[in-house]
Amino acid sequence: MIDLHCHILWDMDDGADSMEKTIALCRGAVKNGIRIIAATPHLTDVELIDDFLYTRNQRISELNTYLKAEKMPLKVCGGAEVYLNNHIFEAENLNEITINRSKYLLCEYSLQPFEPERALVFAEEILEQGLIPLIAHPERYPTFQRYPAIAQELRDMGAHMQVNADSLAGYLGEEIQEFAKSLLLDGTAELIATDAHDPQYRNNAILRLQEQFPPEITKDLIYWATWIAPQYILRNAEIPARPNGI
Ligand SMILES: [Fe+2]
Repeated sequence: MIDLHCHILWDMDDGADSMEKTIALCRGAVKNGIRIIAATPHLTDVELIDDFLYTRNQRISELNTYLKAEKMPLKVCGGAEVYLNNHIFEAENLNEITINRSKYLLCEYSLQPFEPERALVFAEEILEQGLIPLIAHPERYPTFQRYPAIAQELRDMGAHMQVNADSLAGYLGEEIQEFAKSLLLDGTAELIATDAHDPQYRNNAILRLQEQFPPEITKDLIYWATWIAPQYILRNAEIPARPNGI
């Protein structure tokens, strides 16, 4: 698996708060067949990009050195989970915080209700900067739950979407599980990621979570959403249409 959404780096956000927890998450990743992780700490203020990048890159380099020394089959690359607010219009160097320096920018909306049009305006701003919004966990936003057509509109504009494994497993309730399922099945979302924060409660035990996915989420679809589609992102290529039957 390739996990493109994970708060694995220590002391950068509400994710791992020590290097020990980071390493525990890495061990969990290896056990669960995860081979590449994009480290995506929250970035809530794009004006702080320079400091954010300095710390993030230093920690990724330290972590990859450790993984290599321990002969763990896991690599970590850069990313960020960018909170979309009005500051996004002031940002000039969003391309520096994309996933693996591709055109794909992982971004999140507010978990509080907001006007659905704002979702489109923020995505438009990212597209105008020549980047592709990769929207984190659309199933979790009350605005998207209330106006599900907004997800399709964003998709039509050129955005991509990633659902969380724990949403699909029903950890956030049946309504969110159903929404995550329908987004994947109708092709609005192409990716599944862990959004892991710590080794205990919000971890990356994707194999256990998969057992609780709805049966319509087939093995082929999981393979597509956790291995094939993410490879296109890492290579900065366009995600092709999903093959028939998946
Ligand atoms: Fe996240």
